[in-house]
Amino acid sequence: MFARTAARTLAAPSSRLFSSSASRLTKVAVLGAGGGIGQPLSLLLKSDPLVTSLSLYDIRGAPGVAADVSHVDTGSEVTGYAADQLDQALEGVEVVVIPAGVPRKPGMTRDDLFNTNASIVRDLAASVARVSPEAHILVISNPVNSTVPIVAATLEKAGVFNPARVFGVTTLDVVRAARFLAGVSGVSPSETVVPVVGGHSGPTIVPLLSQTKYGKSIIGEVYDKLVHRIQYGGDEVVKAKDGAGSATLSMAYAGAKFANALLRGLNGEKGVITPTFVKSPLFADQGIDFFSSLVELGPNGVEKIHPIGELSAEEQKLLEACLPELKKNIEKGKAFVA
Ligand code: NAD
Ligand code: LMR
Repeated sequence: MFARTAARTLAAPSSRLFSSSASRLTKVAVLGAGGGIGQPLSLLLKSDPLVTSLSLYDIRGAPGVAADVSHVDTGSEVTGYAADQLDQALEGVEVVVIPAGVPRKPGMTRDDLFNTNASIVRDLAASVARVSPEAHILVISNPVNSTVPIVAATLEKAGVFNPARVFGVTTLDVVRAARFLAGVSGVSPSETVVPVVGGHSGPTIVPLLSQTKYGKSIIGEVYDKLVHRIQYGGDEVVKAKDGAGSATLSMAYAGAKFANALLRGLNGEKGVITPTFVKSPLFADQGIDFFSSLVELGPNGVEKIHPIGELSAEEQKLLEACLPELKKNIEKGKAFVA
């Protein structure tokens, strides 16, 4: 039932969104549970057999979402917490998923969200550091390239940063790459899983199509269009929603998929490998100490960070465009906390 490779792990069709082999008690909190992502993500986490307790927090609306989701006939317990109950929401949690913050409107970049979202994420991370310092933190709030360094620096300041436990969720890029490559190749997305490395914004999103069976033969204009669509898939949704926000449903799917992968790793399942934006040695010599590449997840969180492997000439160029932008985004996040 489980994927044998990273590619297959990521490509499991939606009917098999969740896999479970072992059961242990796992309490998961969603911070921002009342929002566009938070609500469907809470529903999907309620359906995940590896989640035994769900703690839903938002500055508005979480108790209502919790009451609603709690009627779903799966085993987990669900509790909603109001704005002044963040500490209670974080009590005893092992995994904290953070989709709190504002989304883009047409014409905005993810970095335009920094001024609002940086302090939201910093303050939430400070509470996690105080109440549940050992929790694994999954950061969805944009700009991910900066919010992950903000979370890490906040935990570091509190003296509890463990690089194996902080993750930027880049799974939506992986989901899009599989879906879009499947469309071009005329096969199932389960056959077209693509490792996507770098970060989570336009040029920092680097799909490694040359490392895939169907992607490696794509060239020319088709290649350029496919890469552009993977890098700017978020803009497609922002434009279509026309001021009503950005991707929420596909993001909830991607967030639940990544959370399930982490929970399987925590449960001791071997070979759970997926891209995620973590503290990484891969480009640290260039001053870039966070990077998304294939990461093996295990009982402690990050078990092994895989190198990016062989790149085509086109991918080498994409990487060259990614690195300076990523460096800038990471430094901005760190400077905010410093
Ligand atoms: P939304 O506005 O619908 O929901 C955000 C929620 O956060 C709201 O319910 C709001 O009340 C809550 N919130 C605000 N401040 C809070 C705080 N201090 N504590 C707890 N909750 C708080 O937005 P959305 O569409 O759900 O998007 C949320 C974030 O996710 C945005 O920053 C968006 O850019 C990002 N996002 C990331 C990805 C990704 O791939 N990583 C994909 C899509 C969206
Ligand atoms: C996405 O990729 O859909 C998200 O990062 C939201 C956005 O702003 O595009």
